[in-house]
Amino acid sequence: MRSHLLNDTTAEQYRRSVTDGVERVAAKLATTDRPFTGITVDALAPRIDEIDLDQPLHDTTAVLDELEDVYLRDAIYFHHPRYLGHLNCPVVIPAVLGEAVLSAVNSSLDTWDQSAGGTLIERKLIDWTTERIGLGPAADGVFTSGGTQSNLQALLLAREEAKTDTLAELRIFASEVSHFSVKKSAKLLGLGQDAVVSIPVDHDKRMQTVALARELERCEQDGLVPMGVVATAGTTDFGSIDPLPEIAELCEQFGTWMHVDAAYGCGLLASLRHRDRISGIERADSVTVDYHKSFFQPVSSSAVLVRDAATLRHATYHAEYLNPRRMVEERIPNQVDKSLQTTRRFDALKLWMTLRTMGADGIGQLFDEVCDLARDAWRLIAADPRFDVVVRPSLSTLVFRYIPAAVTDPSEIDRANLYARKALFASGDAIVAGTKVGGRHYLKFTLLNPETQASDIAAVLDLIAGHAEQYLGESLDRAS
Ligand SMILES: Cc1ncc(COP(=O)(O)O)c(C=O)c1O
Repeated sequence: MRSHLLNDTTAEQYRRSVTDGVERVAAKLATTDRPFTGITVDALAPRIDEIDLDQPLHDTTAVLDELEDVYLRDAIYFHHPRYLGHLNCPVVIPAVLGEAVLSAVNSSLDTWDQSAGGTLIERKLIDWTTERIGLGPAADGVFTSGGTQSNLQALLLAREEAKTDTLAELRIFASEVSHFSVKKSAKLLGLGQDAVVSIPVDHDKRMQTVALARELERCEQDGLVPMGVVATAGTTDFGSIDPLPEIAELCEQFGTWMHVDAAYGCGLLASLRHRDRISGIERADSVTVDYHKSFFQPVSSSAVLVRDAATLRHATYHAEYLNPRRMVEERIPNQVDKSLQTTRRFDALKLWMTLRTMGADGIGQLFDEVCDLARDAWRLIAADPRFDVVVRPSLSTLVFRYIPAAVTDPSEIDRANLYARKALFASGDAIVAGTKVGGRHYLKFTLLNPETQASDIAAVLDLIAGHAEQYLGESLDRAS
C-alpha cells in the first residue's frame, strides 16, 4: 500500500498516474460536443450505487475507466460555449496547473510552519487585490472557500464593530436582489429574524438609495443599530451594480459598516474598459471577491478584504499547539489568525500562476469580452418579438422570457418557460438558468465564456422557442 503514497520513491508512478488522468480529461474536452448528456438521476444513481467501496480496483487505469462511466461522460461541462447556466466560468490553464501543484505539495495555509512561501504568496495576492480595489495602506484580507464564507466573515467583523452588544438591536441593509448568503450569515451570527432589512431596487435592479436612507433613519428612530449595509456589485440574477458612491455616503453619515459583495463583479477590477462601473468600491469597509466567478479560476478561489487590518482580530484565536500568542510578537505570519478556517487549501496559487502567466490584463480582456457578448446578446433578444428581456446588462447576465403572441395567460407562459428550460437540460444541447421576476418565471443566460458567440445565443433562443412552442401545442391538444 505504501506504493500509493506520494514521496521520493513514487515520483515516477505519480507522473504516470496524473498524466493518465490529464490525458482522459484532455480527450474528453476535445470531443465534448454538448455541455451535458442529459442523463437523469434515475439513470445515473444505480451506476454509482452498485459500486462497492470496500472492493477497490487497485489500479488507477481501471479506476479512471470506471470514473468515465460514473462521472466524466455525464458531467456538466462549463467550458462548452452553450453552457449558459449559473455563475461558473471556464477555467484558465495556468490556474489548473496551479491546482495540480497545490494538491500535490499540499501546503496548509493556516500557519507559516505548514506553508512557508505559500503564506507569503497569499499575502502578496491579498495586497494586490486591495490595491486594485483602492482600500488604502491599512488594508488586509484572507482567501476563503467562496463568496458565502467571505460575506459571513465580513458581517462577523461588522457585528463585532457595531455599537451594541445586544444582537436583537442590529440591522443589516441589503437590496431585495442581494445574495441569500446575507440572510444566512445573519442567522449564523445570531441576529434576529428581522435583522436583514430588504431595500427595494429600481428599474435596473439597483438598490434605491432613497429607500435605504429612509430605512436607516427609521432604524435610528426605532432605537435600533445599523450594523452594516451590503451593497452588491454584480447581483446574481441581473449583474446589476448598486450605486456604490451614494451608498458609501449614507454609510458614512450613519456611521455604518459598508460591505461590498463583489463576488461576481470583481472581474471589473481587472477590466481594461469597464473598471469605472465599480467606482466607489474603494470606500468599502469590506469586500467579497470570487476569483472563481469572474477571474476564470477553478473552484474554490475567493477572498474577503478589509479596509482596516485590525478588524480581522475578531477572527483571531490562539492555540498553544498551532499559533501561540508569542508568534505575533515574533512576527511569524500565521494566516489562521485572520481566517474562519484552520486547515486551508493554498487556493491562492492558482491566481498566482494566472497572473504570472497571463497578467491581470489578460483576465480583464476575457471579462470584457463576456460583457461585450452580453451587450450584443441583449440587442438580439430585445429585437426578437418572441422574447421579453428584463434589464440591459451591467455585467454578463440576461434575464428574459418567451412570450408567445397567441397566449395571454401569464401562468401558461410560466409553464412554457419552465418546460423549455427543463427540455433543454434534458436534451443537453444547452444549459440555461431560471429565476422569478415579479412572481413570474423567467430564463437566464449567465455569460462567462468568451468562446460563446452571438450565433450560439441565437441558436439557443431558437431551441428555447421550439421547446416552448411544443409545450403550448401539446397543451392546446390536451385542452381540446
Ligand atoms: C453576488 C453573490 N454573492 C455571493 C455568492 C456566493 O458565492 P459562493 O457560491 O462562492 O459561496 C454568489 C454566488 O453566486 C453571488 O452571486
